[in-house]
Amino acid sequence: MATAKKIVKEAAENSILKPNAAVQELAPYKQGQSQAEGHEEPIKLSSNESPHGPSPLALKAYHDAGNTLFRYPDGAQVDLRAAIGDVFSLNPDQIVCGNGSEELQLLLVRAFLSAGDEVIFSENAFVMGKIHALAQGAKVVTAPEPNHHASVDEILKRITPETRMIMLASPNNPIGDYMRRVDFMRLVENTPSDVMILYDGAYGDYVTASDYDPGFSAVDWAPNVVVTRTFSKLYGLAGLRIGWLYCDPSVMDPVQRIRTPFNANIAALAAAEAAVRDGAYAEKIREHNNEWLKRIKRELKALGLFVFPTVANFYLIRFSATGPHTAKNAAAYLIDRGIIPRPVAAGGPADCLRITVGLDYENEAVLEALTGFMSATN
Ligand SMILES: Cc1ncc(COP(=O)(O)O)c(C=O)c1O
Repeated sequence: MATAKKIVKEAAENSILKPNAAVQELAPYKQGQSQAEGHEEPIKLSSNESPHGPSPLALKAYHDAGNTLFRYPDGAQVDLRAAIGDVFSLNPDQIVCGNGSEELQLLLVRAFLSAGDEVIFSENAFVMGKIHALAQGAKVVTAPEPNHHASVDEILKRITPETRMIMLASPNNPIGDYMRRVDFMRLVENTPSDVMILYDGAYGDYVTASDYDPGFSAVDWAPNVVVTRTFSKLYGLAGLRIGWLYCDPSVMDPVQRIRTPFNANIAALAAAEAAVRDGAYAEKIREHNNEWLKRIKRELKALGLFVFPTVANFYLIRFSATGPHTAKNAAAYLIDRGIIPRPVAAGGPADCLRITVGLDYENEAVLEALTGFMSATN
């Protein structure tokens, strides 16, 4: 029997309608595994979602929005922009919301990149950005991360007259480490003003380190800096698809020209507004995450495993390249026990598994399983 993949490949080969050459070359994005054979309700720790779900106030706002589903959403996104502005002390007129931060990154790419332009990605930038850039016909330039840390020097070295954008995530994914404020400032100060710095802060809500820079104040003096944030992680609204960006008015204008008017749906706008205003709930989730990170790092280290520095809601563990304790064997061992980790995609550090910080019982299950795995000799 023909596999689904083969059918799709044959259909593409036989089709008269051809996508543009750049799109033909793209490899589709692969999302985290969500099933473990033999486990009806596996512990899914493969996509860095918040296992706590959203604030009860956000859930109520979501349900209440059910009464207005026959209406179009507010295309001007006034209430959510005002709430984000209040909570983060930002000018709401410089905020745009969208169908996840992914959509906003796509809009920035479409509005600011042309075929042949160069985009520099720090090695661990989010992969969707590369897909958007390549589809636009832009050229992807990768700045290596020596010691698995984003390097300002490696990025700056790669700027040419063709460079139009730099994309980097802080904290990054799949490692979870962040760029220190001094380094971020050096990047902004040394990047030509006609090169956009797209600073992806999807995991920024978890960070309490005083030398982390969320990037917002840089936008006010460097109009080429754009920050994207999401409600998919700490705020527990991944399924609703809602994110936002903060930018200079000169960036806002082109984005608004190509944004579809109702790109953020009515339920997402309502739930996100309630979520961002519920600071006490967000704080509880942040504390739970950060307490568990400390314990997980300590216990995994005691098992002889290396955990990369992380301030996000996930941790990356390095396993042996050979012998019984490889990442592949660890993944199989965890999946057998109904726990789904994320093997690191090609290009990331080898021999690693990325695991989301879960609920108490989920984290306990991971620690117990990895203790069993490390004591097994084959
Ligand atoms: C670094 C990073 N940026 C952006 C995203 C996408 O977030 P959103 O759900 O807002 O599209 C993710 C999702 O995992 C991510 O890891």
